[in-house]
Amino acid sequence: ETAFIHRFEPATSAGSPPLLLLHGTGGDENDLLGLGKLISPGSALLAPRGRVLEHGMPRFFRRLAEGVFDEDDVRRRARELGDFVAEARQRYGLAAPIAVGFSNGANIAAALLLQRPEALSGAILLRAMVPLSDPPNADIAGKPVLLLSGQGDPIVPASNSARLAALLSQAGASVTHRVLPAGHQLSQADVTLARDWIGNVD
Ligand code: MLT
Repeated sequence: ETAFIHRFEPATSAGSPPLLLLHGTGGDENDLLGLGKLISPGSALLAPRGRVLEHGMPRFFRRLAEGVFDEDDVRRRARELGDFVAEARQRYGLAAPIAVGFSNGANIAAALLLQRPEALSGAILLRAMVPLSDPPNADIAGKPVLLLSGQGDPIVPASNSARLAALLSQAGASVTHRVLPAGHQLSQADVTLARDWIGNVD
């Protein structure tokens, strides 16, 4: 079994999609449980803790500098996360989840989508960047993706998130990209937009 420390909360309403919650740098498996409940009350919540440590801060893959990724590690860690999702689906009896990732968690969610499309039924990517400069030729036809970027994000340039939206669209995803009057941190608008989007996904 692929050992990720994680939290799991079973669904409280049938018909709500399971969520895979992926925290940002320095976060943990508890961080996004509240967000998950706000955007999709009743969903099963599966929240792993990133296994890479950067000065003691959990992440989902190694980076060489801010915004400069160790891409071999991105690929390897995305496979590992894909294995975890497959095992957790069996163990807990879950349909393929919708990833909800913030920052580093959004970046690994994008990598997972490109590398193991079958692991996810869709994704909400909050402040995501292009995770791989030479992404695999994925077929993610019809998968719904909500990409929410911050207009003043000092970590994610507008050109980078636009490139990610284009890349996912070209791979067949059904991408909604909104640029919010926000920085790297989440805002109330993220919650509202994510909740409305997930309510319309099927
Ligand atoms: C990353 O390393 O994934 C991005 O720089 C976002 C972050 O975690 O700060």
